Amino acid sequence: MKMANFTLHHHLAFLLLFAAPLVAFDISTPENFLQCLSLHSRNASAISKFVYTPINSSYSSVLDITIQNLRFLTPSAPKPLFIMTPLDISHVQATIICSRQYRLQMRTRSGGHDYEGLSYLSEVPFVIVDMANFRSISVDAEDKTAWVQSGATVGELYYRIAEKSKTLGFPAGLCPTVGVGGHFSGGGYGTLLRKYGLAADNVIDVQLVDAQGRLLDRESMGEDLFWAIRGGGGGSFGVVVSWKVKLVPVPSTVTVFTILRTLEQNATKLVHQWQLVANKLPNDLFIRLILQSYNSGPNGTRTMQAIFNTLYLGGVDSLLEVTRSRLPELNVTRQDCTEMSWIESVLYFAGFPSGTPLEVLLNRSSNTKTFFKNKSDYVKEPIPESGLEGIWERFFEEDQGVPIMIWNPYGGKMAEISESAIPFPHRAGVLYKIQHITAWTTGGNEVAPKHVSWIRSFYSYMAQYVSKSPREAYINYRDLDIGMNNVIGNTSYKQASVWGKKYFKNNFDRLVRVKTAVDPDNFFRHEQSIPPFSS
Ligand SMILES: Cc1cc2nc3c(=O)[nH]c(=O)nc-3n(C[C@H](O)[C@H](O)[C@H](O)COP(=O)(O)OP(=O)(O)OC[C@H]3O[C@@H](n4cnc5c(N)ncnc54)[C@H](O)[C@@H]3O)c2cc1C
Ligand SMILES: *[C@@H]1O[C@H](CO)[C@@H](O)[C@H](O)[C@H]1NC(C)=O
Ligand SMILES: *[C@@H]1O[C@H](CO)[C@@H](O)[C@H](O)[C@H]1NC(C)=O
Ligand SMILES: *[C@@H]1O[C@H](CO)[C@@H](O)[C@H](O)[C@H]1NC(C)=O
Ligand SMILES: *[C@@H]1O[C@H](CO)[C@@H](O)[C@H](O)[C@H]1NC(C)=O
Ligand SMILES: *[C@@H]1O[C@H](CO)[C@@H](O)[C@H](O)[C@H]1NC(C)=O
Ligand SMILES: *[C@@H]1O[C@H](CO)[C@@H](O)[C@H](O)[C@H]1NC(C)=O
Ligand SMILES: *[C@@H]1O[C@H](CO)[C@@H](O)[C@H](O)[C@H]1NC(C)=O
Ligand SMILES: *[C@@H]1O[C@H](CO)[C@@H](O)[C@H](O)[C@H]1NC(C)=O
Repeated sequence: MKMANFTLHHHLAFLLLFAAPLVAFDISTPENFLQCLSLHSRNASAISKFVYTPINSSYSSVLDITIQNLRFLTPSAPKPLFIMTPLDISHVQATIICSRQYRLQMRTRSGGHDYEGLSYLSEVPFVIVDMANFRSISVDAEDKTAWVQSGATVGELYYRIAEKSKTLGFPAGLCPTVGVGGHFSGGGYGTLLRKYGLAADNVIDVQLVDAQGRLLDRESMGEDLFWAIRGGGGGSFGVVVSWKVKLVPVPSTVTVFTILRTLEQNATKLVHQWQLVANKLPNDLFIRLILQSYNSGPNGTRTMQAIFNTLYLGGVDSLLEVTRSRLPELNVTRQDCTEMSWIESVLYFAGFPSGTPLEVLLNRSSNTKTFFKNKSDYVKEPIPESGLEGIWERFFEEDQGVPIMIWNPYGGKMAEISESAIPFPHRAGVLYKIQHITAWTTGGNEVAPKHVSWIRSFYSYMAQYVSKSPREAYINYRDLDIGMNNVIGNTSYKQASVWGKKYFKNNFDRLVRVKTAVDPDNFFRHEQSIPPFSS
């Protein structure tokens, strides 16, 4: 993404050029905008508690705290004119109304994990609504439902569910710090996807503030908009304040294992075999693959490591029966396996050592931030062994430990849900999804071009082995390389459908129709938001 470093002067010039009927924001009189906010907030005196401008001493810390990708945590990245951290729904409504009035672009942020930083960056003058104070979670274990606000993390949600019940869970992401707001908006998958589908498949009601500043729920918004916000991607249709979800049953004992195999231990054959069975295993069994290169000896010999990272919804005895009959080549033994509760498996998959207190799930900044560029692909035919060998060769050309692939098996419940049930279309026929990652902690942005260029060329190599026409991609692994909108909002349907069909296939057209009906002026927009027909 081109990161123009606009000065305020440029901001203003840009704004005057493109702003027409409403009032253009004037940086020399920010008080007009603030007055508008007071006027539309239920409690005007609260303004001083939720609005930050660059002169506030905590402006930078409030801005930086949830930025996950260090590539965008730089002084030259564009900064918002205001950051709002609403304490009340009326503050969300006021920000929408006043940003419209002053023609400021508004970005919504929940957990800040967007891969391209679209929740906190824009190349035109903008404000951020940060949902960090909207974090309450209420679990009704008897009804097997919960209301969770967008600013909560999935880790907090899991923790609150486990507090009430050891046999209820929720099928959302593996990384506990991911924000509910963006995650549910784009689908949201984790270790339970083969059994229960995505987070978005399990949403049954919401509270949303629309482009007119109205607070709507499922009934008042109607089924089209309710369909669109469950997987159509964040930042296109409104600000989701809160989600009502259906909780899912989990057994009191689950089993995990993580088995490593190198090329010398027949990893190539094993990986090939995994492709043939991973999506056909019982729905209770989730075996994902992590592929990375490493040095096998003191002489710098490179090899590949295939890591079979597994959750089984049941005890070790029945797991061993399944693996012996369905994937005997992996030679899973009892010593490889550990029985635990479902909530402990959440910590296990997040990489915490055994015995870590569950409270770590409440820590909103517990993962290590890195510089990264990730991309995604969907695989429908097994990659031949020669193709796997080509992957290893390309991994050896990159710095050690920097490139990673994560292969997530589909099938099970994912294949049963129709492609048009929600906007997320990657269902029957998908063997697995690939996440391509290049992530580094040293060298900073100086070395970014080298790594980004490696992953782009790797992505070209992979084209022959993955879905085609369109080459599908996962919206929550946002990737601006596959196409983007013009942020001033005049993107044509044709231009947007290039990336739109990759994320949504034919559901893209319905998303555009919903957008046209609910936000024809394209107030909610960013580089990959759904455009209305008219613009
Ligand atoms: C370390 C890491 C691990 C991850 N692990 C997983 C995983 O296991 N499974 C998975 O599916 N994905 C995973 N993701 C991807 C993640 O699901 C997406 O990045 C998701 O969009 C993040 O949501 P957020 O609220 O944290 O992000 P944000 O950056 O806050 O928001 C993402 C997008 O949604 C919009 N948005 C945010 N809040 C709202 C709201 N309240 N209403 C409307 N729009 C909103 C934003 O404007 C932006 O466009 C991971 C990402 C990272 C960085
Ligand atoms: C208005 O907001 C202020 C500051 O947050 C708070 O002290 C006060 O109690 C609020 N008043 C009402 C009526 O909510
Ligand atoms: C930002 O600074 C202004 C002016 O000093 C102050 O009134 C306001 O309370 C500050 N905002 C926050 C959220 O602290
Ligand atoms: C690798 O495969 C060969 C032949 O298929 C077999 O003889 C050998 O034991 C395997 N090695 C390991 C470590 O499993
Ligand atoms: C490198 O070291 C490993 C383990 O120490 C050894 O097995 C291998 O033969 C060595 N390879 C070369 C090319 O020297
Ligand atoms: C399976 O694993 C066990 C324990 O690690 C080992 O002793 C045995 O040789 C392995 N069997 C095969 C066929 O690789
Ligand atoms: C949260 O995690 C961060 C990063 O690992 C750590 O520095 C911090 O101490 C943790 N906070 C708490 C309260 O555990
Ligand atoms: C994307 O890349 C980051 C950077 O390393 C990595 O931490 C993260 O695990 C990747 N995303 C997911 C969902 O795996
Ligand atoms: C959008 O506006 C930009 C800047 O004025 C212009 O270059 C571009 O051609 C416009 N695109 C469309 C589709 O109108």
